[in-house]
Amino acid sequence: MNHEALDGIMHPKAIAVVGASATPGKIGYTVLDNLIKQGYTGTIYPINPSAEEILGLKCYPSILDVPGQVDAAVITIPAKLVPQGVEECGKKGVKGLIVITSGFSEVGKRELEDEIVALAHRYGMRILGPNIVGVLSNSDGMNASFAPYLPLPGKATLVSQSGALLIAIDAATYTRGVGFDKMFSIGNMSDLDFADIIEWLNDDPNTSCITLYIEGFKNGRSFMDVCRRATKPIIGLKAGVSAHGAAAAASHTGSLAGAAKVYGAALQQAGVVQASDLDNLFDRTLALSLQPPMNGDNLLIITNGGGVGVLATDSAERYGLPLKFAPPEVQAELKKHMPDFGSAKNPVDLTGMAGNEWYHDAVKYAYAHNWVDGLTILYCETAVTNPMEIAQSIKAAIDESGVNGKPVSVSFVGGERSEKAMAWLVEHGLPAYGAPDRAVNAMAALREYARMKAIASESITPCGDEGRAIAMKVIEHARLDGRDSLTEIEAKQVFSAYGLPVTRTKLATSEDEAVKLAQEIGYPVVMKIVSPEILHKSDAGGVKVNIKDEASVREAFRTIMANAKDYNAEAHIHGIAVQEMAPWGTEVILGSVNDPTFGPTMMFGLGGIFVEVLKDVTFRVAPVSSSQALRMLGEIRGAPILAGVRGESPRDRAAMAETICAYSTMILDLADEISESDANPVLVYAEGKGVKVVDARIILKKK
Ligand code: ACO
Repeated sequence: MNHEALDGIMHPKAIAVVGASATPGKIGYTVLDNLIKQGYTGTIYPINPSAEEILGLKCYPSILDVPGQVDAAVITIPAKLVPQGVEECGKKGVKGLIVITSGFSEVGKRELEDEIVALAHRYGMRILGPNIVGVLSNSDGMNASFAPYLPLPGKATLVSQSGALLIAIDAATYTRGVGFDKMFSIGNMSDLDFADIIEWLNDDPNTSCITLYIEGFKNGRSFMDVCRRATKPIIGLKAGVSAHGAAAAASHTGSLAGAAKVYGAALQQAGVVQASDLDNLFDRTLALSLQPPMNGDNLLIITNGGGVGVLATDSAERYGLPLKFAPPEVQAELKKHMPDFGSAKNPVDLTGMAGNEWYHDAVKYAYAHNWVDGLTILYCETAVTNPMEIAQSIKAAIDESGVNGKPVSVSFVGGERSEKAMAWLVEHGLPAYGAPDRAVNAMAALREYARMKAIASESITPCGDEGRAIAMKVIEHARLDGRDSLTEIEAKQVFSAYGLPVTRTKLATSEDEAVKLAQEIGYPVVMKIVSPEILHKSDAGGVKVNIKDEASVREAFRTIMANAKDYNAEAHIHGIAVQEMAPWGTEVILGSVNDPTFGPTMMFGLGGIFVEVLKDVTFRVAPVSSSQALRMLGEIRGAPILAGVRGESPRDRAAMAETICAYSTMILDLADEISESDANPVLVYAEGKGVKVVDARIILKKK
């Protein structure tokens, strides 16, 4: 992206307020007042057709009357007047517009919004908004918004789709002690969106962590691409995760692909750390803005209280960082900094007798040790210690260790003195929290970030796309037939073209042909009705399994035909599929939807009751590499079943991962054609024995 517009908006040498007003209480008054009083050092031009002077500044009837260059304009005039205002800014050579005005696409006025974007682009300008609070920047001393004050200074930057929430977070930065350098309200995202701003912030020297409040994206894939390339931590709180498209979904995958799951998968693939709620957004932002990522799994906890140590241990397990005992030499050294009745295991309990020196020495040694990937330090306020002195000892120990690039989090549990000590720690770059659970959660965020970054930077080698020509022929044939779903045989041809191991299946249109095909395939066989109108074949009595000889083939052919006619006399019957009867294996399901935000998205889970009742499934936005696919196999609750339980041999996870990769390639490559698909069941055999797709379904996009 060209950074000029955002440079113009965020570091303007001169800024105009189009719609500046002398009437206190109006937004055009507040924005001007904020710019003047909160440290902006560039030139400010109030624009108002009927005022001579506002708040002591000379006022101009139009931006075209301003004598000098103007880099940014804040627009605070009513919606119907905005197009003219934008045009005049364009003529003046403004670089970027901050359109605060509401009354555009959010109230159905999409055309008006499109009009202002087209006008802006005609003059090479970009628009932030409309329907926003504005932008705020501590390092630029600029409050170009109607939020009352700049946030508590810090290193994070907030990008918020909700204006009201931005104002609330702005105020809360002071009570929570979490500092931000900038805040962007992005409202309707008519032009500049999350991706543009993240890209710009990645190069902003004053931002160390990008914090997002997300309601939705216009283009999920461009968001994912930008986040994957970003070199700074990004944390997101996604709102609105209920019943996304589920009601209209026609398939298993569709009904399971709620926003929470698809967004969760997409954010994870993009390397974005997620927050569970607003409190957690603050806590994790603090850690990610102050501390480096945690590059290994070894978390060491040092405490002066057994209780908080146990609480932290539980939290560590809950957040995916289960504690391990430190190596013997680490324990032996730590033992020197505690009484006999202390514990050098993990958590390291220095006991209630721990004073400044023990904290200092234990922290300094542990922090510098190679085994330790991250350190969480807990302290319960006691009558024999001074919280501020403990905080200073901790900070000194970290500094003296000579180690960089390893994360620390702290929790002091106590009263006012502990609060003050924690504020001091935060000021000195150490994230500190009032409860051990929060300090461990913060460390988990630093670990998640490191893990996801490693995954997001993995290159994805798709499994090959030579099958496209074959697949397109099958799809075009179905379209010529006036159908928007493929028969099982056609779907299997498409799957097979992309290398998915489908059961051999052929179409018989007569009893004799069925016998011939059964002999070719080899007994036993399965026979299934093939009709576009009969999707639920078993319900129609259209499936017979374990057919072992010619007489049974003939009988099955007649019975299935009769059942199908009874079930739906109008159905077009293509014939009967004769297929190889796959031996028993562990049943799994693959499915895909074309998500409105992220495009082709796939699901994997154990089949049968696991998907029906337990909804034990996991999602990824396509494409998925084989190594990512292996992770999908490991993250469902039923993972041990694939790993081999109760004497069962492990299943062929490598073959399953290859199949997932091939399937993801297929849905991405045929994204313009396939609306939904599934492979259900897929049978997974013992290690080395592969997998088989037993049934396949493809629903085409309507054209
Ligand atoms: N150029 C410059 N100034 C002009 C022009 C023009 N072409 N036309 C009118 N003005 C002046 C007006 O004369 C007025 O100044 P005055 O007070 O001296 O008369 C000033 O611009 C503002 O115009 P008003 O008609 O008084 O409009 P008002 O201030 O009532 O409302 C506003 C304008 C704030 C943009 C309103 O239309 C609006 O959109 N409000 C909602 C904004 C909002 O909430 N955005 C964030 C959403 S996120 C959240 O919920 C927190």
